[in-house]
Amino acid sequence: MTEALLRGQLRLESARHALKNFLWSAASRFALHGLCPWEPEDRWVMLRHHEIFLPGLGKGLDGAKIAHISDLHCCPFMRELHLLRYFEMVNQLEADFIVLTGDFISASSRHYVRRIGKLLSNLSAHVEVMAVLGNHDHGLFHPQQEVVRGLGDYVAGELNSAGIRVLINKSRSFTKDGSTVCFVGLGELWTEDYLPAVAFEGVPPDRPTIALCHNPDDAPHLANLGATYVLSGHTHGQITRGSRIHNLLFPKKNRQFIAGQYNLGHDRFVYVNRGIGPSRRARPDTRPEIALFTLRDLAQSAYRPRPWAGTVTNVEIPGHWQETELGSMVY
Ligand SMILES: [Fe+2]
Ligand SMILES: [Fe+2]
Repeated sequence: MTEALLRGQLRLESARHALKNFLWSAASRFALHGLCPWEPEDRWVMLRHHEIFLPGLGKGLDGAKIAHISDLHCCPFMRELHLLRYFEMVNQLEADFIVLTGDFISASSRHYVRRIGKLLSNLSAHVEVMAVLGNHDHGLFHPQQEVVRGLGDYVAGELNSAGIRVLINKSRSFTKDGSTVCFVGLGELWTEDYLPAVAFEGVPPDRPTIALCHNPDDAPHLANLGATYVLSGHTHGQITRGSRIHNLLFPKKNRQFIAGQYNLGHDRFVYVNRGIGPSRRARPDTRPEIALFTLRDLAQSAYRPRPWAGTVTNVEIPGHWQETELGSMVY
């Protein structure tokens, strides 16, 4: 009798969970894609180039390059051919490091996790490709939603198999000719994995440190812990201020971090990448983005630009959209 009751309860729980998941993924799809998933700006990519002036970098890493992409959102609306073209463009930048700041998938589908893993294996950097996970990689569209158990680990596993080092509350240091730069990867802010104190453990306070964190909301805290520069994504370049519905759907503490670079004070900055995946790209300032950062040693620089200085190039993605040759190579 007790067993039958338990079984009934379990069935009810799993039905509730399935319904909740369905509602969240429907809301997510609507919010991310609106009524027109194939929008004109998907044909374009915005290449943003910034110089990062780091105190204490030293000569050895002066000129090192970091390519940054985010929010790929592999899903039925994201064409593989587009992704491959983006990755080709990233590879052509010949960066020393490539960093990816989360949201590799949209819905909690392991099929798309495997797909994006396979596509990402095309990325190549001179030194290393690193990544952190985003809310969607845990099946979360909202902080009050339940995590899909095991999904984050599955995404991390597929990324590892693609040759990408996933940093969850971990750091990595790279030294060249006496210069050192540290990368600190944070767990997703909306999960229990978000442990900044653990992530920064052992990171020397006098070294230039770049934190990778999907959600830019906590950037001021990360700067206080020692991050010189925080690289984020998550917002898709959308301005959410003033809209109650958006504020409900995209809860944020620091609504001023929407897109581009922000000064956090004391020579520390956060950069919010607009992402690549399909998400209401109809406005030119929300075109898919590839960011390229050139590291500069502050002591070597005679002139230092204003914090928001940088160049923007809009590039139409080359190729014939009807041809399938590249796509069929992968699937
Ligand atoms: Fe996203
Ligand atoms: Fe996100």
